[in-house]
Amino acid sequence: IEQGNLKYEGKAKQVYLTNRPDILWIHYLDQATALNGKVKETIVGKGKINSKISHLLFTYLQKHGVEQHYLKTVSQTDELVQALQMIPIEVVSRNFAAGHFVSRFAVPNQMPLNPLVQEFYYKSDALDDPFINDSQILALGFASPDDLSVLRQQAQIVNDLLVQLFDQVGIRLVDFKLEFGKNLAGTIILADELSPDNMRLIDQQTGHSLDKDVFRQHTGDVTIGYREVLHRLEQVI
Ligand code: C5P
Repeated sequence: IEQGNLKYEGKAKQVYLTNRPDILWIHYLDQATALNGKVKETIVGKGKINSKISHLLFTYLQKHGVEQHYLKTVSQTDELVQALQMIPIEVVSRNFAAGHFVSRFAVPNQMPLNPLVQEFYYKSDALDDPFINDSQILALGFASPDDLSVLRQQAQIVNDLLVQLFDQVGIRLVDFKLEFGKNLAGTIILADELSPDNMRLIDQQTGHSLDKDVFRQHTGDVTIGYREVLHRLEQVI
């Protein structure tokens, strides 16, 4: 497989075409952003760690029957994934209150949420990824009713598997974001990345954040937490 032209540059990764129409090349950047890109910083080593965490988590989910896009690692920061028609919806799952859920509803941080809270956001940098509900998604034609039930179902399955996995290594999965796409057969497949850039993880023993909140709140070197997450996952996956 050969790396082709840059297709899209995100906040923490680049997506390249390849010589195969069904395969894309992802490069993880040593970059972090907050406030939807308004704050940007270079964090040496983050690309490598996130690439590794992401492929471990995708491999774990695949083993448990979740269809996902990761195919192969090509270097410490680069991987091959299935090319998909992306659905422009971010699916956020919340097991405990944090971040925008706390500010929106004025509830205590880390309040348990039962049942699991699922939220959709419309993926748009220009609009700052606004909250979007089911009828808005349908009216705007971003997904069908069947697609929406698959997104909710898949997000629930992924949540249950990840909660269980992180629990095994002493980490609380507070919340996280997923993105999905469709393959040529129309099957909805889990895509994007699975790393501490997209999830809130808390050390069950110390209560410390092991995720991007450390960057958002300027409370230290994020890669320390990310490395800890990687180290613990490597013991069990
Ligand atoms: O900011 P908020 O509290 O809504 O974030 C919920 C979860 O979704 C967090 O784990 C955050 O990292 C993730 N998220 C993301 N990308 C976004 C918005 C949220 O990965 N654009």
